[in-house]
Amino acid sequence: MDKNSVKKRILQLRDEINFHNKLYYDESKNIISDYEYDTKIKELIDLENLNPEFKSLDSPSVKVGGKITKSFQTFDHIQPMLSLSNTYSDQDLFDFDKRVKKILGVDEIEYLCELKYDGVALSISYNNGLFNRALTRGDGSKGDDISNNAMTIKTLPLKLSEAVNLEVRGEAFISKFNFNKLNKDKKDKKEEVFSNPRNTASGSLKMQDSSIVSERKINCFMYSLVSVDENILTQEKSLKYLMDLGFNVPDTYKRCSDINEVKDYINYWEEKRDGLDVETDGIVIKVNSLKYQKILSNTAKSPRWAIAYKYKSESKKTRVIDIQFQVGRTGAITPVAILDPIELGGSIVKRASLHNSNEIERLDIRINDRVFIEKGGEIIPKVTKVDFRERDSKSEEFVFITRCPSCDTLLKSVEDQAIHYCPNYKKCTPQVSGRIEHFISKNAMDIEHIGPETVKGLINKELLNDISDLYKLKYEKIIGLELKIDGENKVRSLKHKSCQNIINSIEKSKKNNFSNVLFGLGIRYVGKTTAEKLAKYFKNIENIKSANFDQLTDVEEIGDKIAESLVKYFNDQENLIILENLVKAGLKFDYEEKKLLESDKLSGQIFVISGTFENFSREQIKLEIEKNSGKVSKSLSSKTSYLLAGENMGPKKKIKAEELKIMIINENQFIKLI
Ligand code: IVH
Repeated sequence: MDKNSVKKRILQLRDEINFHNKLYYDESKNIISDYEYDTKIKELIDLENLNPEFKSLDSPSVKVGGKITKSFQTFDHIQPMLSLSNTYSDQDLFDFDKRVKKILGVDEIEYLCELKYDGVALSISYNNGLFNRALTRGDGSKGDDISNNAMTIKTLPLKLSEAVNLEVRGEAFISKFNFNKLNKDKKDKKEEVFSNPRNTASGSLKMQDSSIVSERKINCFMYSLVSVDENILTQEKSLKYLMDLGFNVPDTYKRCSDINEVKDYINYWEEKRDGLDVETDGIVIKVNSLKYQKILSNTAKSPRWAIAYKYKSESKKTRVIDIQFQVGRTGAITPVAILDPIELGGSIVKRASLHNSNEIERLDIRINDRVFIEKGGEIIPKVTKVDFRERDSKSEEFVFITRCPSCDTLLKSVEDQAIHYCPNYKKCTPQVSGRIEHFISKNAMDIEHIGPETVKGLINKELLNDISDLYKLKYEKIIGLELKIDGENKVRSLKHKSCQNIINSIEKSKKNNFSNVLFGLGIRYVGKTTAEKLAKYFKNIENIKSANFDQLTDVEEIGDKIAESLVKYFNDQENLIILENLVKAGLKFDYEEKKLLESDKLSGQIFVISGTFENFSREQIKLEIEKNSGKVSKSLSSKTSYLLAGENMGPKKKIKAEELKIMIINENQFIKLI
């Protein structure tokens, strides 16, 4: 296609996609299938990537709205993405200074200090000043092309102020503010919260749907210019140049004329870093002169011209008021230290998990002890050690409970694992309510309008004993019920609107897929993905129920532990009664094959597949061909239209295809075909 036709096609695709977006978002109407829509988006992105001069901020490939589904392609980095050597000690820092001076044969050296942002490293290339591609660090020599996701980063320019070719590196992250907001939304929706900003940013950038990434509001700070302009002589100048080009470079960096000034900078930010909206785990100290950097060069792993000084996690001391125990949905008992509230890393800490009896023994923690608490990047703080000097001489060793704090049943323990659990699976309230809360959670049956308080209240009123009782609830049975709120001296009365909402959302849940129901049953070790795999493989609950251990472990990714748990679950008479009740209530226990999106694009074409593929398994690629009306044949003949060649294709196939003059196409060409 010549440039004019490319431009015409790009504009046409943008118009079409914008039209469908508007229809979908403004009028909730779909007049083309998701597949057709995705194909258009894909064609547009491919054309824009091949012709970056036509990229535009206004393109629907950039803006939220397009559901783009694609796996990531990998590309080589033009220069390897190395890591930094780390230190926590002043001695190492002074040794680094000495080493640098010795190699260079100088007495004085200038450093540029920057904050070490705690996020995900990205390498972004620009052609003619236009965004070309964003790669993750990957294995250091090649990374994943996450361009579509990176393009949702508002502070990452798609067009630079100069039409230059360059590659820049920086750190993508989620600000503390946006992270807290995201988690607040998650809490409101009763979903599991993200553990920390770093993991959230890295998980987000690996998502297939960039419209979700866009909602996460990722930011990016730049810290290095890979392909350097000869007029730029220092790291400081390259940061300034990056700013001029339109990149986001924080002005927290500082030029230091010796290592003592570096240490002052380190001390300054150790105090102040909590107040920043970005997580920082240390300082990066770089030799400022690029000429010196070149002389110092790199080891296989890291540059000799830079070092990261890492801050130790913030640690504070507080008192243990009590050690309490929580009972989980599976009966596992978790000890929790109740603390004198203390501010740590920007939030108030009142509790810390002690995990299990081993941890209590390891720490030798006792009530009234003064303990050190650390946050270390995670939301849940941990107790790192006890300050024995401050221990009360009369304090007594803490003894792990022997009975369930909720139902007083004698606890059992799992040998070698220091795990204690309450065996009263059927009647212990936190276990019963935990199972019901799991069943109604968003990822399982998504029954809105019933919160944990309502569940506990209905259990107390003996209206709920197990998940199947949800489907026996009637409006008349619950209207006006007075539910006691746990831990408070309050009673809540169920009003007309709440009751209607509860009953309606329970009714709506009957439409959920079999895999959601299966996940909702709360069978130990059966997570969402395992439930999907089981549903797809066995097709219905009867087949899973009657499968023995060996048949279960035959399924891809079902190991001994899951299989054992499934067998145990289906051998329990009471579980079978619950299942029977759920079947009677009308829940789905059969797997519905997803309707294949059909097209006749490959009609009349016969494919032979050879080798392995990056984006598809053999089975998937076969399915792709068939759903587009093509045929797959095992051996090459004069009737074959294409040999679809993956990695490690057999050499004989290649020779034969060439003899028969059969077109050989690779995976990307195939993707374009469909
Ligand atoms: S310079 C050879 N500067 O830290 C690597 N890195 O452990 C040169 N990082 O993967 C990197 N803030 O993702 C540099 N101001 C900063 C940084 C920084 C964070 C990350 C970067 C790198 C990791 C190295």
